[in-house]
Amino acid sequence: MTYKVIQWTTGFVGREAVKGILAHPELELVGAYAWSPEKDGQDVGELCGIGRLGIQASNDIDGLLALGADCVCYTPNHPDIDVICRLLEGGINVVSSNLTNVRAAGKAARKRVEAAAQAGGVSLFGSGIFPGFANYIAANMATVSQNFRRVRFLESVDVSTYHAIRNYDNLGWGKTPDPKWEQASREVLGFYDECLDVMGAMLKVPISERRFTLEWAITPDDREYFGFEIKAGTIAGQKTTWQAFTAGQDDAVLELDVCWVAGKGLEPEWPIHHGYTMKVDGNPNVQTRVTFSPQVAERIEDFIDMSNTVTSMPLVSAIPTVCEAASGIRTYADLPLITGHYVPNI
Ligand SMILES: NC(=O)c1ccc[n+]([C@@H]2O[C@H](COP(=O)([O-])OP(=O)(O)OC[C@H]3O[C@@H](n4cnc5c(N)ncnc54)[C@H](OP(=O)(O)O)[C@@H]3O)[C@@H](O)[C@H]2O)c1
Repeated sequence: MTYKVIQWTTGFVGREAVKGILAHPELELVGAYAWSPEKDGQDVGELCGIGRLGIQASNDIDGLLALGADCVCYTPNHPDIDVICRLLEGGINVVSSNLTNVRAAGKAARKRVEAAAQAGGVSLFGSGIFPGFANYIAANMATVSQNFRRVRFLESVDVSTYHAIRNYDNLGWGKTPDPKWEQASREVLGFYDECLDVMGAMLKVPISERRFTLEWAITPDDREYFGFEIKAGTIAGQKTTWQAFTAGQDDAVLELDVCWVAGKGLEPEWPIHHGYTMKVDGNPNVQTRVTFSPQVAERIEDFIDMSNTVTSMPLVSAIPTVCEAASGIRTYADLPLITGHYVPNI
């Protein structure tokens, strides 16, 4: 069976998704959406730096809907609920890098998306490296532990090599601390909070309370990464924690810590582990660290591409499963096991 796929935007994650779709034996790339006017009409392969594919990117949504695609791989910089509903109502499954279960978008939006998926007879699935694959692995680790009491998860990265660092301006990076930026993090990063729902559903945790905490790190000097300026005295790092509690328990049962810094020498200076550290407290305790290294590590771009590959591949790998899933909003908690696909080196 081959599933026809449209790639929705060709930004950092989208470009790697295109490479993953082309390499996957069960997927066929049939189109791409261009948000930027200058990308409209350009060859998708050329936009992704891999040479001509004979498929043009287009900003004509009706034209893309008419391609008869099974799935859209949706990776614009922000989710647009209207567009997602249009795709779902049009009978196209959606895998997305910026949603988990849509709870954070509010009850009305979630209801609309669920209704659109039911109307189209298709499903929506959100993943990435984290939110997505990494917290799914952390939850799976509890499988080997009797009476597990707690799953803790830490993402700890220096994002100064992250090409899309400018996207953090909507979290207040490069600005002076202000409570409005804490609220922005709650909202913009709402799909991180949704990971607690997925892990809770996987592990049968009756969540009774959630907590969100945020600390900032400030740069003492002016710095710039990929054209994004962060002046002295402004936010250049943040530690964000999402916790889930059960009734009568003082300690969180599920805890997601995310520590991002833009370079060294911030105040305070947090230790950075460059990857994911996951721990299960139970009998036995379980611990693992997940780190990545590029297959070819010759240029800084190899590391940048790798970070986008690990975001896009959990989506690409999920497409066949999502296309066969029951209609509605789907998560790792209710889909069958999603795996990679062996590609012989011929
Ligand atoms: N779950 C995870 O692990 C994870 C990890 C990293 C990123 N993400 C998410 O993945 C998404 C894509 O990240 P990225 O680094 O690839 O982002 P990006 O390159 O900055 O942006 C992706 C594309 O969004 C489109 N775009 C830009 N401004 C827009 C606007 N105002 N309205 C609609 N579309 C617009 C552009 O499309 P064109 O190419 O057509 O111009 C752009 O190439 C983000 O939402 C990010 O939060 C998730």
